[in-house]
Amino acid sequence: MKQENYIITGGQLGKSRLNLLSTILEDHTKRFLNFNSDHEGISFLDLGCGGGNVSRMVAEMIGVQGKVEAVDFDSEMIDLNNQDLQKSGLLNTTFKCKSAYEIDNKEEFDVTYSRFLLSHLEFPEEALKKMVEATKVGGKVYVEDINFDASFCHPTNEDFYSYVRLYISAAMTNKHNPQVGIILFDMFNKLGLVNIKINIIQPCYNDGIGKWMAHLTLDRIKNTVIKQNLINENDFCSVLDGIKSFTENPHTIISLPRIFQVVGEKK
Ligand SMILES: C[S@@+](CC[C@H](N)C(=O)[O-])C[C@H]1O[C@@H](n2cnc3c(N)ncnc32)[C@H](O)[C@@H]1O
Repeated sequence: MKQENYIITGGQLGKSRLNLLSTILEDHTKRFLNFNSDHEGISFLDLGCGGGNVSRMVAEMIGVQGKVEAVDFDSEMIDLNNQDLQKSGLLNTTFKCKSAYEIDNKEEFDVTYSRFLLSHLEFPEEALKKMVEATKVGGKVYVEDINFDASFCHPTNEDFYSYVRLYISAAMTNKHNPQVGIILFDMFNKLGLVNIKINIIQPCYNDGIGKWMAHLTLDRIKNTVIKQNLINENDFCSVLDGIKSFTENPHTIISLPRIFQVVGEKK
């Protein structure tokens, strides 16, 4: 499947980054989904599942009677997820290699979910519409996505803000919207979802894996920003080194992008 439009390196390198990201977000996503014993046996669609971290977490929560279908257009990532699946012995989960625009499920899932997919699409409304169509009447649609421009650090650091600008430019060059988080409520309303609830989280770190996400993400968009002529290789390496030193400094803090968590019900 063609993925040249995706700005972050995929496959094994992409999966290792997503594993780290998922580790630091696991509790936030669990709190957002707020699943309890009522959710045992439900059907769940994870669109743009990446390394399958949320898919596997949900598969364990909903039990053997439940069903998780997880979709991503990165075939290497899907192969790796299937290998993980064999080791884990989870029988209620299926990984499928497909574009988000191509799913054609109709009222099949109790819950449809996507995290950090819509900000990577040229037509996020179309993918969200597919999710709504795939949701049963009375079921719920959950989306977590970002406003990248709200990322911050302290004290102010030129290399960090160069990274923020580079990420946004790379996404916008490919006609993606790295600020999609703030329009999710509007998109949910337009698609007729009801009982919409919004929450915002913005984790910030003075050490640990979370603090290294900016450095790691910049490293994983290297191929894209150089191909797009947004920066030359020398300047890129200088920004990356600058962020490394800033991250290693115990007196600095670095945030993730602001994350909007929006849930709505299908009438
Ligand atoms: C930032 S990652 C998030 C992965 C996962 N949802 C998570 O939170 O860990 C975005 C994922 O969307 C996938 N993706 C991007 N565009 C897609 C498309 N048009 N159809 C299907 N998957 C897509 C990428 O391959 C990548 O795995």
